[in-house]
Amino acid sequence: MTRTVYVNGAYVPENEAQISIFDRGFLMADGVYEVTSVLGGKLIDFEGHAVRLERSLNELDMGMPCTMDELLEIHRELVRANEIDEGLVYLQITRGSDGDRDFAFPDPETTVPTLVMFTQSKPGMMNSEASKKGVKVISIEDIRWGRRDIKTVQLLYPSMGKMMAKKAGCDDAWMVEDGFVTEGTSNNAYIVKGNKIITRGLSNDILHGITRAAVLRMAKEAQMVVEERSFTIEEAQTADEAFTTSASAFVMPVVEIDGVMMGKGTPGPVAKRLREIYLDESLKKAI
Ligand code: PDD
Repeated sequence: MTRTVYVNGAYVPENEAQISIFDRGFLMADGVYEVTSVLGGKLIDFEGHAVRLERSLNELDMGMPCTMDELLEIHRELVRANEIDEGLVYLQITRGSDGDRDFAFPDPETTVPTLVMFTQSKPGMMNSEASKKGVKVISIEDIRWGRRDIKTVQLLYPSMGKMMAKKAGCDDAWMVEDGFVTEGTSNNAYIVKGNKIITRGLSNDILHGITRAAVLRMAKEAQMVVEERSFTIEEAQTADEAFTTSASAFVMPVVEIDGVMMGKGTPGPVAKRLREIYLDESLKKAI
């Protein structure tokens, strides 16, 4: 099926979508993005993603190309047009193009940002095989830039990390800086010790996950203890459980870290419970 995608104000078939070869997103990774999940044809935590998008744009001196209401309507129209039941909406805003290549930003008065959006259908995402079996991770050094709180499209190193994991027969990589885990290639990282959920605190070192915020809130409501602090791979390997969170995989149990099996090598009860609570609550609030 040919998808309908959105490019700068127009809904077009995917093979007719066009942007300039001078677009700074293409030439300089000068752009930001968001990924919002869709369950039962509805958007999960749209507001959280929209607020983070606005923050990312502000941090890079870029403006919003449309209002939040318009953004919501485009999301909904794409979900409708592409009949998405379970899947994702991808959104990317770049600084656009003034028709040439230059390191300096073009004049924002005369250069309009590029807004591109498309859907990805992922039937079975809610009950994925990976979530039942858990995933295996390796650790790699975190060599990304210092503003990981901004959701930019500079994803080369995370992609390389995924490939390193694949090569090692694993599913993903956790990145480590100064001896402490920062985050996964495309998710936030957690360990569980007894009734305590431990995850790195918010700073410029990690992306401020929208799923993270929701899961931590729900964990507290379920009387679990949340400790926001850094942890090492060694501490993770001896913890009771480990898991990750992201808009595309929700709560994902981790069953192996650098070849060391977590517990019995199957998803732990806390990760399973948090996944259930998260999906349940998110479905109720989906719009
Ligand atoms: N990735 N950390 C990184 C580096 C990420 O790329 C992501 C999301 C997260 C989790 O954030 P959230 O809960 O808001 O999805 C943390 C998305 C899903 C992606 O790139 O596809």
